Amino acid sequence: MLTGKNIILGVCGGIAAYKTPHLVRLFKKAGANVQVLATASALEFVSELSLATVSRRPVLRDLFELEGPGDDDKTMHITLGEWADAFVIAPATANTIARLCAGLCDDMLSVCFITLRPDKPVLIAPAMDGHMYGSPSVRRNLAALAAQGCRLLEPASGELASGQCGLGRMPEPEAIVEAVGEMLRPAPASPLNGLNVVVTAGPTREKIDGVRFLSNYSSGKMGFAVAREAARRGAVVRLVTGPVSLVTPAGVERIDVESAAEMLEAASRFFGTCDLFIGAAAVADYRPEAPVQGKIKKDDAEMELRLVRNPDILGEFSAGRRPGQISVGFALETGGGIGYAREKLERKRLDLVAFNVYDGVSTGFEVDTNALTLIDRDGNVTELPVMPKDALAGQLLDSIEQLLPSR
Ligand code: CTP
Repeated sequence: MLTGKNIILGVCGGIAAYKTPHLVRLFKKAGANVQVLATASALEFVSELSLATVSRRPVLRDLFELEGPGDDDKTMHITLGEWADAFVIAPATANTIARLCAGLCDDMLSVCFITLRPDKPVLIAPAMDGHMYGSPSVRRNLAALAAQGCRLLEPASGELASGQCGLGRMPEPEAIVEAVGEMLRPAPASPLNGLNVVVTAGPTREKIDGVRFLSNYSSGKMGFAVAREAARRGAVVRLVTGPVSLVTPAGVERIDVESAAEMLEAASRFFGTCDLFIGAAAVADYRPEAPVQGKIKKDDAEMELRLVRNPDILGEFSAGRRPGQISVGFALETGGGIGYAREKLERKRLDLVAFNVYDGVSTGFEVDTNALTLIDRDGNVTELPVMPKDALAGQLLDSIEQLLPSR
């Protein structure tokens, strides 16, 4: 995977920097070219000579002391961004994470991070003391970097430089090389490549008053996994999601909404142009008829809340779609057989329904695994046992690919 690939390795000033010459050697052994960009404090922990020797390139640090490999390239901070196939930051310290997050450009590492072409993958391997890693500012900055498409490699647990044990160690260089190889693995040739896909995900919130709402436990994980996998297969993916705390998958356009009405409004903008619509959202079937402005006071012993039906987003897409547009839905039940899912396939005029019995332990809303029974319009039934939602998303898209009209 790494043969001939150009990798920028950003090294920051943490104790784990002493492992980076070995990391560079592994990249080189795998056939990659490596350009090291070190922060000033990184070179307090690891020698510039070691990194330059193993990478066979000068280590770049300061913007104004550019010594290009063999030439006098004063715009190398731009050309490197084009040269690179991947940008890896290991170890990434709290300070550099904050600088990258803020968009600062005060050394080669931070400038090249900004000039990197947006389609190039970035892998960040944070390594620091466990308390630092858990601090709200580091969590917030990492979440922001992840939201802009950077992949994060969880630190490993073990003995830390402070003598304490905990989460915070840089993963071993072998694991970093493996993760970069995976990141650069080409997506399988897929019939979804270039198609417009809309995925709805997460719960909706239906306002009762200014401070309360009706909702459900949907975490959005299944819908996000489907969106991520569709994007990996080359689709142009719009993810219309209710409120969830999940990172936007790389390459996916995310549209945040709250209520079912807002979800319909956002999704319907793509009804005419999408090739595939996947309704993975747990849309509230009803909403309070008359949400109150401000806060309802508890004046009475009882309270009645009148609910009215919400629009059926998937149903509206299916009803109005033109031939060739594919419609896929989920059916979540707390029991019962697949007869109900078959009925939903008919009633919502779907091409495929993914039936999912909720047990709240290994299947359902908030967990990372699920099990699905796929039923398509031709009556084919595919049972997918309990597995991670990412893997299920792949299998679901494999089945959907069989239903796509030939192009
Ligand atoms: N769905 C939707 N809009 C709604 C309700 C559901 O788009 N207002 C989609 C979901 O994203 C999912 C499928 O329809 O793909 C699930 O339907 P479900 O909520 O079970 O709808 P009903 O057919 O109303 O089922 P039930 O009778 O159990 O409420």
